[in-house]
Amino acid sequence: MRFLGRTCLIVLSLLPAVSTQGRWTVIGSDQPVIAEAGDDVILPCHISPRVSAVDMEVRWFRDAFNRPVHLYLNQRDQLNIQDSDYRGRTALSPSALQRGDISLQLRNIRPSDSGVYTCYAVGGSWYEEGQTEVIVTALGTQPSISMDSTQGEQTRLVCRSEGWSPEPEVIWRDRGGNNLTSLSSPTVQRDSQGFLSVSSHIKIKQQSNVFSCLVRSKIPKPDWESKLHISSDFFPGVSGWMVAFFLTLALSIGAIPLLVFQWRRMDAMERKLEPMAAQRLREELESVKREVLKSEWKWILSSAGMCLFNGFLSQWRVKEQRGAPSHSLCLHL
Ligand SMILES: *[C@@H]1O[C@H](CO)[C@@H](O)[C@H](O)[C@H]1NC(C)=O
Repeated sequence: MRFLGRTCLIVLSLLPAVSTQGRWTVIGSDQPVIAEAGDDVILPCHISPRVSAVDMEVRWFRDAFNRPVHLYLNQRDQLNIQDSDYRGRTALSPSALQRGDISLQLRNIRPSDSGVYTCYAVGGSWYEEGQTEVIVTALGTQPSISMDSTQGEQTRLVCRSEGWSPEPEVIWRDRGGNNLTSLSSPTVQRDSQGFLSVSSHIKIKQQSNVFSCLVRSKIPKPDWESKLHISSDFFPGVSGWMVAFFLTLALSIGAIPLLVFQWRRMDAMERKLEPMAAQRLREELESVKREVLKSEWKWILSSAGMCLFNGFLSQWRVKEQRGAPSHSLCLHL
């Protein structure tokens, strides 16, 4: 007890010697800032205890200290030595600086802004730094499946989707819901803004089946799903591949309301196949028990399209009830 008391005394008597200038710390955010592409965000960071930062150097940087995202020095922003990727998109609040709040405002965020940011403050001979991570998310396009090549018994399908951040996962399933992902090989490409395009190839045996490709964000977010129907019962008598292309789109949880489609008039063969295919599409949509946001549902309707393989190619469009034109999805064979 006496020993402990003496230690405390010594430590206390040393403290004033240590604190000549500062003895404050800089605290970033222990939670990542998660934002959607296009959002304006604030990267939290403050000085503790809350002393004014007006006369300090405040530097925000990511990879390189000398290429700051934002630099405040001599009581003003020094934008001439700013990383050009951030030009015109950053700000510190002058009133917040007085309260020791050195949070950075970052506008119109893009996937390439994802990363760990350091907030660094210098006051007199004292300096400290904190960190804040930013994750930029973007929901990519609805995936498409197409036939890539056919060599002997082996056919290759490819599923593509663009505009993702961060990298999504691509899951392949067959009619039985079996996970075929291990048979596939995905590739990812990044554009200048950091948006990612994925394409995943899978080799399949020639058989009547349904292949679905689900592209899913690794951060909980809505998913897009697309299905390719390979079915021999649509075209009895035609040998080899007979394919119908079904698109289903799925988002979040709950049930999808019934779709009503207006069908375009077709030739005799197509008319015969039409009810079967329509029924299939409805089943597909219903089997994906998820709730769809109103805006997203509108999008689904406008892009729901179907093509049927008929000897060569006959195209079949699904139209919205109100007659809005659809984006047709064509079949590659
Ligand atoms: C499917 O399989 C892949 C690899 O085989 C695995 O990484 C993934 O988690 C599985 N997904 C589901 C939803 O089962």
